[in-house]
Amino acid sequence: MIVLGIESSCDETGLALFDSEKGLLAHTLHSQVEVHAEYGGVVPELASRDHIRYLLPLMEAVFQQADIEKTSIDGIAYTAGPGLIGALMSGAAVGRSLAWSLGIPAVEVHHMEGHLLAPMLEDETPEFPFVALLVSGGHTLLAYVRGIGQYELLGQSLDDAAGEAFDKTAKLLGLGYPGGPALAACAERGHHGCFKFPRPMIDRPGLDFSFSGLKTFALNTMQKVAKDGTNEGKLSQQNKADISLAFEEAVVDTLKIKCRRALEQQQCTNLVIAGGVGANKRLRSELANMINQLDGKLFYPRVEFCTDNGAMIAQVGCFRLMAGQTQPLEIDARARWSMQELEAI
Ligand code: KG4
Ligand code: ZN
Repeated sequence: MIVLGIESSCDETGLALFDSEKGLLAHTLHSQVEVHAEYGGVVPELASRDHIRYLLPLMEAVFQQADIEKTSIDGIAYTAGPGLIGALMSGAAVGRSLAWSLGIPAVEVHHMEGHLLAPMLEDETPEFPFVALLVSGGHTLLAYVRGIGQYELLGQSLDDAAGEAFDKTAKLLGLGYPGGPALAACAERGHHGCFKFPRPMIDRPGLDFSFSGLKTFALNTMQKVAKDGTNEGKLSQQNKADISLAFEEAVVDTLKIKCRRALEQQQCTNLVIAGGVGANKRLRSELANMINQLDGKLFYPRVEFCTDNGAMIAQVGCFRLMAGQTQPLEIDARARWSMQELEAI
């Protein structure tokens, strides 16, 4: 079965073709970074308009890349949530209409399920059950995964998602948008031990997270350093790098502690990292060290499939269509959608 996947939940338009036999055939992606950069964050209306601009050209490109005709596909998968409603509607409308015109089924995909199963796009795929750390711009959660559609929520962020904390702290530091990669790059020039940030909620039992305090801690640190410094109340480039490093270490350390706790609780040694923050090098290497100590296995998608993409949507859509799942014609895009509502396969 060949499935066209469409991702348009936020600020990336992604299209892909996934074959149940051969795996990923082709994928194309357009990032809206330039559209939103001058505003320092995603402007929903501009996001929808940009998706509309790019969906069809990217679709032509992905079919060309795979060297197949539209009539060769057996189904279409589109992200139906969670995300920005207008952005979701753009991709869903294109997917639904094309499916109708070709007389083939279409299926809604949960964006976070796409992320969670993205490591299955790689050669070495994780075996069920596993613990998954999903760290994106909108969500941070730990789940126990028994199979496709069988997601037990172990813990989640009570306020900002990890990616959101990266983005907001980067903005405070004047590092631009998107903040996560910018802050990580700045942290590479930092010196260890200049600042000590707290590790939120590690003294409490449970697996929930809270990252908004770290952003405030960063702001207070910046103000203190600027006031005490010799740079006319401004931060030097080195100050920014040192603060970035201390912030990144705090987020990574907190995630690592909670992952270890989740693995111990579930008596499991397989860990999956997915979502945009999963592209963070420090996070990957710290979790790899931890998993080595536990004699376990760590799985993550290649960096380009950590952030939003069409491949992860095409793959999940293919799994669900193969299991006979489809939805009726009307489009039901959702800003919020719990992963526990998903049907098991
Ligand atoms: O999964 P994603 O592409 O979109 C959502 O579903 O939210 O995640 C985007 C998030 C942004 O907050 C971005 O700053 C963060 O992932 N991110 C990173 C890195 N690359 C992307 N955060 C830290 N380090 C990175 N290298
Ligand atoms: Zn995402």
